[in-house]
Amino acid sequence: MARQHRMILIVVTVTALGVSWTVPLSAGQAAAANGSDLFKSYCVVCHGADARGTGPLATSLSKRPADLTVLAAGNGGTYPTEMVARIIDGRNPVKGHGGGDMPVWGEAFLKTQGAANEEAVRERIDAIVSHLRGLQREAVATDRQ
Ligand code: HEC
Repeated sequence: MARQHRMILIVVTVTALGVSWTVPLSAGQAAAANGSDLFKSYCVVCHGADARGTGPLATSLSKRPADLTVLAAGNGGTYPTEMVARIIDGRNPVKGHGGGDMPVWGEAFLKTQGAANEEAVRERIDAIVSHLRGLQREAVATDRQ
């Protein structure tokens, strides 16, 4: 089990490095954070392309990754923007959310090549939070049901 955990961390770290190598940086300026790209690079491996918690690594984790399309539904229909940002950051944990195999992205992003500062960390997290807002099933459900 412990070995499996280490493997997962290595995969995530490699993914993180891969992105910092491939994201083109214009002269002296970090590329604008793109929530959809960040989600594909850092989250899909566990949460799945549809964000419902069934990524390729999901079955090797001790706890199933959360379904990220029901964050609004789980909060009485309102998307909890600040809470989602705090869960993703992970450095100031939200009781009952994240933890376990969910990486601490605030720390991981702080080590990103070329964008290792709090402002860049916040920008990335905000971009992901906005992207996830668009994936909430709640909004779709009101239109169709
Ligand atoms: C190594 C696997 C893994 C990766 C990669 C990962 N997560 Fe998670 N995530 C989890 C697990 C497992 C949980 C469930 C933790 C729990 O319930 O204790 C979780 C929980 C969450 C939650 C809490 C949902 C809730 O309702 O409590 C959010 C939000 C979240 N992840 C967002 C993200 C985002 C955004 C990314 C990419 C930046 C990401 N995760 C990458 C494994 C992962």
